[in-house]
Amino acid sequence: MTTAAHKPRILTGDTPTHTGLHLGHYVGSLENRLRLQDQYDCYFLIANVHAFTTLADKPADVRANTIGIVKDWLAVGLDPDRSTFVLQSEIPAIAELTFLFAMLIPFNKVMRNPTLKTEIETKGLGESYPFGFPMYAVGQCADILAFRPDLVPVGEDQQAHIEMCRDVALKFNQMYCGVGNRVEPQDHQKAGGLFPIPQAKVGRVARLVGLDGVNKMSKSLNNAIFLYDDAKTVQKKLNRITTGRQSPTEPGNPDNILMQYVDAFIGAADPARAAEIRRRYAAGDNIGDGHVKAELGEAVNRLLDPMRARRAELDGPRGDDIALSVIRAGIHKANAVAEETLYRAKQAMKLDFGARALASQGYQSRD
Ligand code: TRP
Repeated sequence: MTTAAHKPRILTGDTPTHTGLHLGHYVGSLENRLRLQDQYDCYFLIANVHAFTTLADKPADVRANTIGIVKDWLAVGLDPDRSTFVLQSEIPAIAELTFLFAMLIPFNKVMRNPTLKTEIETKGLGESYPFGFPMYAVGQCADILAFRPDLVPVGEDQQAHIEMCRDVALKFNQMYCGVGNRVEPQDHQKAGGLFPIPQAKVGRVARLVGLDGVNKMSKSLNNAIFLYDDAKTVQKKLNRITTGRQSPTEPGNPDNILMQYVDAFIGAADPARAAEIRRRYAAGDNIGDGHVKAELGEAVNRLLDPMRARRAELDGPRGDDIALSVIRAGIHKANAVAEETLYRAKQAMKLDFGARALASQGYQSRD
């Protein structure tokens, strides 16, 4: 049997600025996390410190959302017995690495980061965002590299951040670990680098269209099916989709919203059936939108049923305690890994004056 120590590692996370996961989150990144839980040693980070970039004046909201995200994850099926849930604010090594990594990224490069730029626009931050807002992109490099992961499953909107993280890892290894600048990223650790150069992994459906058929599915656009919508609501929302198609014998657009959903939600479990629907739809071979919607409703509800069942307990009176105990259980294991990374980073940077005791605290290396 392989133990966690021999598995490649994953780190990924969410920022608790809100809760309420929808199908876009599911196909964009949660599905990958679920699928990879057995093959990888997984760390799932709740970026509660980052939530303060926009909610500094609402600490109670950040706390409630933190607990809410953990419940969302548990309901979806992330399993704290197999994976480690990491609460960012309890991992001091992340804060320390953030400052050290900030020296390795040109200021202007951070400010040109397209993910940050988009967020400034969509969240209407204008000119008034705090210094800590762009700083979070550097912090995210530390979130990731503290755990020395091989893979970072994220939505496509996060790719610019992962690219920056790779740059930091490359530069650190070159500057402080003597790795030559012609060494390929995948060979960095073999060449003595502390950090693996992690790869982003975007979900099967990078951008799931919302119920309006135009925009990306998103809570604020009111075009989402939530993972905790009940079965009837799911079907009702699907039934309201419009395609402009008039009859079951009219050839349908094979790229329209219904066909995208067929691929996303029927195709995952039954690719042959998805292909058949698609073929008949495009040919106008006697398959109506109403029929497709009913079949989609069944597929989506099959996916969501176990999540709703797990959710029921978490919404009950013990829910917060369950979430809090999962959070507490992850802290020790996460610090074991992150402290070791920090220790080794400081050694490489000749900052190993009074290293925090590693062995005495039972920290285990995986190497
Ligand atoms: N910025 C990510 C988001 O908003 C959340 C996040 C924080 C993250 N740290 C991370 C994701 C590290 C992946 C890896 O979705």
